[in-house]
Amino acid sequence: MLKNRNLINADDFNVDEINEILNLAEEIIKRPSDFSNLCNGKILGTLFFEPSTRTRLSFESAIHRLGGDCIGFSESASSSTSKGESLADTIRTVSNYTDIIAMRNPKEGSAVLASSYSEVPLINAGDGGHQHPTQTLTDLLTIWMTKKRLDNMTIGLCGDLKFGRTVHSLIKAMSRYNNNKFVLISPEELQVPDYIKIFLKSKNIEFKEVEKMEDVIGELDVLYMTRVQKERFFNEADYVRLKDSYILDNNKMKLATEDLAVLHPLPRVNEIATEVDSDPRAVYFKQVRYGVIVRMALILKLLGVR
Ligand code: CP
Repeated sequence: MLKNRNLINADDFNVDEINEILNLAEEIIKRPSDFSNLCNGKILGTLFFEPSTRTRLSFESAIHRLGGDCIGFSESASSSTSKGESLADTIRTVSNYTDIIAMRNPKEGSAVLASSYSEVPLINAGDGGHQHPTQTLTDLLTIWMTKKRLDNMTIGLCGDLKFGRTVHSLIKAMSRYNNNKFVLISPEELQVPDYIKIFLKSKNIEFKEVEKMEDVIGELDVLYMTRVQKERFFNEADYVRLKDSYILDNNKMKLATEDLAVLHPLPRVNEIATEVDSDPRAVYFKQVRYGVIVRMALILKLLGVR
């Protein structure tokens, strides 16, 4: 039962519940007009204390496409946080104005704190380097719609695997489906945190860490590219040295199989050359569309409308 639940971590929902959301998303893709009035009278609050294009606008698009409304702010400077209001008081207040809240905040753990003060379902739209579970739902729907399966795959993740919260959540999510294995492509300084490796080992899930994309791209069913997360670096010089570690271009795509799917949570900086955008294996702009659909499905489930 997903009604009135919060979504804070990618593994808050079990596999059956995730599949329920993906199945509803597929229904929405097939018959969007059946869903266009289901949230009449419902209000979504979008509380974004950190910049966003896709997550905030896709939530807003999702509630509008369901016939609901949206209120919120896109930076803490335009909220009373700038006057010293606590997160607890902001959430207590906004849950009187809304039926459901999506919040992004740079502080890790802020989403779980906020959920403890919220009277309405709270969705974590990103809490620092910790979790971004609706991006994970987006990634799962994209893989499902592209490959027609979520199991028996070799999944490459490339770039900033240390700070990329979407990487950590996707590894955990795909680990729940049978016989997936991971190829972790990063410079040594940007390898996945130890807790992810410990997690994979504890589940006996096959993975390897490599530095060169060219050595492994031909083995992959899915390649998940990520940008180097400038905002999480303490030192500008380290960011500049590492930011162009990987650039996926048409020459590297020639080494991949015909049915590779290239995903990227976006925003992109330099890590995928624009020449790759017209390759049918590049699905990152379809992924943007699936981000709206899966958030529509999530809102319906948490509100108990479907
Ligand atoms: N993928 C993603 O979270 O993008 P935004 O930062 O633009 O929301």
